[in-house]
Amino acid sequence: MTTAADQPVPATTSNSGIPVSSDETSLTLGEQGPIVLHDHYLIEKMAHFNRERVPERVVHAKGSGAFGELEVTEDVSEFTCADFLQQGKKTEMVIRFSTVAGEQGSPDTWRDPRGFAMKFYTEQGNYDLVGNNTPVFFVRDPMKFQDFIRSQKRMPDSGLRDHNMQWDFWTLSPESAHQVTWLMGDRGVPKTYRHMDGFGSHTYMWINKNGKRSWVKYHFKTMQGADFLTQEEADKLAGADPDFHRKDLFNAIKNGDFPKWSLEVQIMPFEDAEKYRFNPFDLTKVWSQKDYPRKKVGVLTLNRNPENFFAQIEQAAFEPSNVVPGIGFSPDKMLLGRVFSYADTHRYRIGVNYTQLPVNAPKSPVHTYAKDGNMRYAYNSPEVPVYAPNSAGGPAANEQLAGPYNGWESAGDMVRSAYVQHPEDDDFVQPRTLVREVMDEAARERLVNNVVGHLLDGVTEPILERAFEYWKKVDPEVGKQIEEGVRAAQNGQ
Ligand code: HEM
Repeated sequence: MTTAADQPVPATTSNSGIPVSSDETSLTLGEQGPIVLHDHYLIEKMAHFNRERVPERVVHAKGSGAFGELEVTEDVSEFTCADFLQQGKKTEMVIRFSTVAGEQGSPDTWRDPRGFAMKFYTEQGNYDLVGNNTPVFFVRDPMKFQDFIRSQKRMPDSGLRDHNMQWDFWTLSPESAHQVTWLMGDRGVPKTYRHMDGFGSHTYMWINKNGKRSWVKYHFKTMQGADFLTQEEADKLAGADPDFHRKDLFNAIKNGDFPKWSLEVQIMPFEDAEKYRFNPFDLTKVWSQKDYPRKKVGVLTLNRNPENFFAQIEQAAFEPSNVVPGIGFSPDKMLLGRVFSYADTHRYRIGVNYTQLPVNAPKSPVHTYAKDGNMRYAYNSPEVPVYAPNSAGGPAANEQLAGPYNGWESAGDMVRSAYVQHPEDDDFVQPRTLVREVMDEAARERLVNNVVGHLLDGVTEPILERAFEYWKKVDPEVGKQIEEGVRAAQNGQ
């Protein structure tokens, strides 16, 4: 067996491939003299180092990733003609898990939703499903996203995170109650990335080969078993092992213990949307699984670690705008906002030609009229015209495609409006169901303790009082226990 050590050592070169004479000493004028400016290799080393970082993601900055494969085991062709979703198909993919509010070096075990972002390299281009480990979100209109995130990040003067501003925003935004209930419950700190479910969260459209449209919600059910950390365990790990989740994922895959998720979908007939008891496009709501049971599609397996974290994970660029033929968007305004936002942030964070990087490039052929821009290296043959339409045989768009532009019916004046109210569209109905019917007694007790601990960490009047009212609307008993817990601690009991 030959090892790297047996191979002849290659000569170090500059970035332009020119052999260099030293990796250790700079060129000076005499032994004590000044360093000369034409020691280009030294200058290249320093200058390149100074530019090694790209901006971290404005949200979801701390994350970990891996490569894998989706195998479709069931027949869903009745609902979608997406090529990669046909029975028997296997598609390579990359996934990135993340926390939301923390910076790159922040602990993995802070209470926060977890990102669950996937890019499938399909034969019809890249399909990105950029979800979370919860099926709902804090707000339902993209106009509020920026404000919500700022309330989770840091204070302008102290640079500290601040629970007062978090609860101020939440209690003034009752639509947050469902997601906040998830966050403060067990799902707020998964045991590892392997032990959590993933959700597409939004409602998407599926289109079959005859043009029939359905609404769909994606669920990735962990086959490792869902598990969580208590607040105490999470706090301890945040200090002792801040990269706990990153380490767990990397080591599991390295040891051949490949994590798997069962891909399942809820499908709603197109016509049901209008009369369903909840507005099915409101991201703060789920569809009851009694009304629309989950249907199995296939299995996702992660089986390969990155070889270079920066190139393959830090520079990975996921975008909800990437949907392939057979899949479309929905009237969910959050989704429609995200369809703009991600490609825009990638152009800023990585650069306009980010889709050329190997982790982001599709494995199917690209026939685009896009050209030039910083760091462009892919180009069309000179025979391909730079404009369309043309009479020189350049690529032509296919108007028959069943894709994102297969829309839905809508007409009316331009308005800034709330979502259309469906019969059970109260902000507190679903969180109450979660507390009452999904959580057991022990889980409810942990929820109360987590909220009490969170509120005691810097939340002041009148926001504190508003928080008690918020929880009483979720569930009177839970709200009462939270108030009693906070007041008792304040009174030193
Ligand atoms: C990351 C915007 C809502 C999941 C990001 C990033 C931006 C962004 C700018 C940074 C991307 C990057 O630099 O690579 C928005 C906006 C939203 C929104 C404007 C609402 C209007 C959501 C929702 C979910 C979500 C509802 C989940 C259901 C994620 C995930 C990432 C992310 C998982 C990290 C992707 C990665 O691992 O690279 N978001 N977001 N976002 N967002 Fe959102």
